[in-house]
Amino acid sequence: MSKSPRVPGHIAIILDGNGRWAENRKLPRTSGHEHGAGAVRTAVYGCHERGVKTVTLYAFSAANWKRPKGEVDTLMRLCAEFAENELEELVRRGIEVRVIGDLDDLPTRTRRATEALVTATRGGTRMKLALALSYGGRQDMVSAIRQIAIRARAGLVIPEEVNERSIRGYLSTGDLPDPDLVIRTGGERRLSDFLLFECAYAELFFTETLWPDFTEATLDEAIAAFSRRQRRFGRTGEQVSSAS
Ligand code: IPE
Ligand code: IPE
Ligand code: MG
Repeated sequence: MSKSPRVPGHIAIILDGNGRWAENRKLPRTSGHEHGAGAVRTAVYGCHERGVKTVTLYAFSAANWKRPKGEVDTLMRLCAEFAENELEELVRRGIEVRVIGDLDDLPTRTRRATEALVTATRGGTRMKLALALSYGGRQDMVSAIRQIAIRARAGLVIPEEVNERSIRGYLSTGDLPDPDLVIRTGGERRLSDFLLFECAYAELFFTETLWPDFTEATLDEAIAAFSRRQRRFGRTGEQVSSAS
């Protein structure tokens, strides 16, 4: 493992390219998802070993329900298997898991397995892992706005006092820090409804590598690219370099 000077506190990953990986090999798309599961372990444990404090994985979007049923079923089974098979290792490593997204939409096995994982890993202090399942950034913002409006009508929220910090409290990412680095595999350069509010100042890293081919070397490449970036948050480059 190569040492990087600046490891991002929060890495968010859009794991993409499973379908194309399989199609390139004349295999069914589901086979790409099966192989992608190994890369999920590589990414999670690789981040843990590099001292990353928070990882968010975009494993299934709210829009992915539109896919053929057989593919959706495979993805849901793989999520359940990840939760079941990795529980012990995640506990051992002190990784606390949470799920963001619409849990009610998940099939029973996937919901139960992920709930059990969340319960078993509670209190882990080395790293937080957020699994985005049936997640959509807009849907999360709509839900936050709706909750604020309902509370305002009941007199529990003063509309003039709604601010960035209070809005965060209603998002499913809640107390998680904003992503510092977003990695998207598979070559597409878009967010696909991922953490829209939270990614306001995230650094974006896009790689042609298809998700099943993701290795620790890909992770190191992304971290190295991140550490070369100057994050200005609206200031000038000179202001930032003289402050550091
Ligand atoms: C990512 O791979 C997995 C999910 C979106 C759940 P894709 O299945 O989107 O792979 P491509 O983009 O079709 O290659
Ligand atoms: C984004 O990938 C969602 C996940 C990685 C879970 P998609 O493959 O669904 O994104 P689009 O449809 O190409 O934007
Ligand atoms: Mg895709």
